[in-house]
Amino acid sequence: MSKPRVLLLGAPGAGKGTQSSRISDEFGVDHITTGDALRANKGMDISELGFEFDTPGGFMDAGELVPDEVVNEIVVTALGNADGFVLDGYPRNIEQAEFLDERTELDAVIRLAVSEEELVDRLTGRRVCPECGETYHVEFDQPEESGVCDECGADLTQREDDTEETVRERLRVFAENTEPVIDHYAGTDAYAEIDGEGTPDEVWEDVRGAIEQRA
Ligand code: AP5
Repeated sequence: MSKPRVLLLGAPGAGKGTQSSRISDEFGVDHITTGDALRANKGMDISELGFEFDTPGGFMDAGELVPDEVVNEIVVTALGNADGFVLDGYPRNIEQAEFLDERTELDAVIRLAVSEEELVDRLTGRRVCPECGETYHVEFDQPEESGVCDECGADLTQREDDTEETVRERLRVFAENTEPVIDHYAGTDAYAEIDGEGTPDEVWEDVRGAIEQRA
């Protein structure tokens, strides 16, 4: 059986990163995340594109979308090497969705639905490990020792775009640009909407079931 090609959609903080890691482990597929790839290249010079900021970091810290030219390139390269995948954070606008549709088929498109106030609580309370990338929450998913990563012992930090002001802007950008992407896939056989407000384990049961039904 070929490995599943999964697209995970949801607002900032919906749990895409949390569930994508589990999908990647369970189904043995690549986790393709434009957010992580951009954070690893935050200082890259993109001045020749003629946009307001000349590095990805300028867009990200303001909560705005990085230009399509940059993210499309990341995704094309990653898809070319993947035997099954879970896409997390892409596509974020209709142009990216059409670009993706021309390059691959999708077995499962899963939307994680979470209310706005829950999203703000999750993001402003999120802590990440700068060494291994493990994600925690000050209330919902605490490490054994406060402020220290369980996996590698590094001090946890807060993402620069997880302040309340930037979170609100990210949610505005999501409503304007990414909700049309959800409408684009809703109604196809691959599409499933899942309540993302349960515990991570409860959400995972539904996510795994939706993929198994479609792959
Ligand atoms: P990106 O890194 O993709 O961020 P995002 O989409 O805003 O999503 P997050 O990573 O913030 O949230 P998540 O849904 O993964 O939630 P998580 O699992 O961590 O993008 C960042 C920036 O990069 C963008 O703003 C943009 O500038 C740029 N960018 C990226 N892709 C782009 C693209 N395609 N085009 C243009 N620009 C692009 O969970 C959040 C928290 O909640 C954690 O603390 C977690 O522990 C907790 N949590 C998770 N699940 C649960 C649960 N079920 N119950 C309770 N707590 C939970």
